[in-house]
Amino acid sequence: MQKAQAKRNRCWSIPRIFFFLWVGGADLFIRIFALNSSSDYELRRSNRRRATTMSMASAHGKLAYPQFSGLRRTSACVSNSQPLFLRRAGAAASRRSFGGIFAMAGTGKFFVGGNWKCNGTKDSISKLVADLNSATLENDVDVVVAPPFIYIDQVKRSLVDRIEISAQNSWIGKGGAFTGEISAEQLIDIGCKWVIHGHSERRHIIGEDDQFIGKKAAYALSQNLKVIACIGEKLDEREAGKTFDVCFQQLKGFADNVSSWTNIVIAYEPVWAIGTGKVATPEQAQEVHAAVRDWLKKNVSAEVASETRIIYGGSVNGSNCADLAKKEDIDGFLVGGASLKGPEFAVIVNSATEKKVAA
Ligand SMILES: *[C@@H]1O[C@H](CO)[C@@H](O)[C@H](O)[C@H]1NC(C)=O
Ligand SMILES: *[C@@H]1O[C@H](CO)[C@@H](O)[C@H](O)[C@H]1NC(C)=O
Ligand SMILES: *[C@@H]1O[C@H](CO)[C@@H](O)[C@H](O)[C@H]1NC(C)=O
Ligand SMILES: *[C@@H]1O[C@H](CO)[C@@H](O)[C@H](O)[C@H]1NC(C)=O
Repeated sequence: MQKAQAKRNRCWSIPRIFFFLWVGGADLFIRIFALNSSSDYELRRSNRRRATTMSMASAHGKLAYPQFSGLRRTSACVSNSQPLFLRRAGAAASRRSFGGIFAMAGTGKFFVGGNWKCNGTKDSISKLVADLNSATLENDVDVVVAPPFIYIDQVKRSLVDRIEISAQNSWIGKGGAFTGEISAEQLIDIGCKWVIHGHSERRHIIGEDDQFIGKKAAYALSQNLKVIACIGEKLDEREAGKTFDVCFQQLKGFADNVSSWTNIVIAYEPVWAIGTGKVATPEQAQEVHAAVRDWLKKNVSAEVASETRIIYGGSVNGSNCADLAKKEDIDGFLVGGASLKGPEFAVIVNSATEKKVAA
């Protein structure tokens, strides 16, 4: 036990040095370029202090991973006339509802997708669609469901237009002699707007690699399908301290192949949390989401980093979604099992209200 702990501590000492260097650099950058008000700066400083304390705790082995919490930039449009606590909770506010105060590090609309995977029959899907049609869904959320290919047409014909449809896969190029495949053109033809690529079940069960996934995403985008781009580490990778390396490598597979991020939503789905009932804690999810946003900022652009939705997936349900939704870098969810239950899926969609500060 103790040996393992010591090993973990040792593993983290090099990344931690870089982490502190990075914190220092980021802080300098914020001071020079982003700060236009001293009180914003106070808020950031207190966040910094909190983050540093947490990293210290991690140095003593209390936390297994370095914390990014509190390092996110708050928006430059945060209103200074608001009391500090409100702006801090700003970590939880929606810009649209509260003119200028928001807690989302990203600027994109909340997004909730339901991945039905290989589940359902004509009958169970009719029932699910009826439940979704009668659910009350918050306006300010993009809602998408991903039925199995063969039911897409049934769902398209019966589901309210307010909910868009995603496929769970698409072929790497134009259709043709590719037995068993479905092309992006065909998906567009039946009214599908989205497609999921890079899901861990396709990576680890079917054996798709970063390059194949990146190319499929690029082709889908070229045909005007929007892409839910999934990334996430396995348990052994997390335990070996490789969470960020794995996620960044998978992100690179998309980034190297796509020319625009406008129609991409990133889904962080830790493999150990998918279908296991083992959900990442809000802090674990936030930490990776913040790192992903930072990666986009460094490797793509600040604009893409703030506009791209980064959603969480992995045993999200009606009871745990609210706490996750409060985290500033969590811009929505990709839901598995709970998306097969209409009322519960609606609860998850409506957790978008957690982003708003209680009036
Ligand atoms: C797609 O991404 C992979 C993985 O990063 C990379 O090896 C490959 O060169 C990229 N392909 C193109 C066409 O850019
Ligand atoms: C939701 O997930 C949590 C784990 O985060 C679990 O304890 C709880 O029982 C689940 N609730 C429902 C309604 O499935
Ligand atoms: C891009 O991300 C990688 C991590 O995958 C990092 O090592 C590299 O420095 C980044 N590139 C730039 C230009 O910031
Ligand atoms: C999805 O399908 C699998 C296999 O048929 C089944 O075990 C699972 O319970 C289904 N999930 C739900 C939430 O119905």
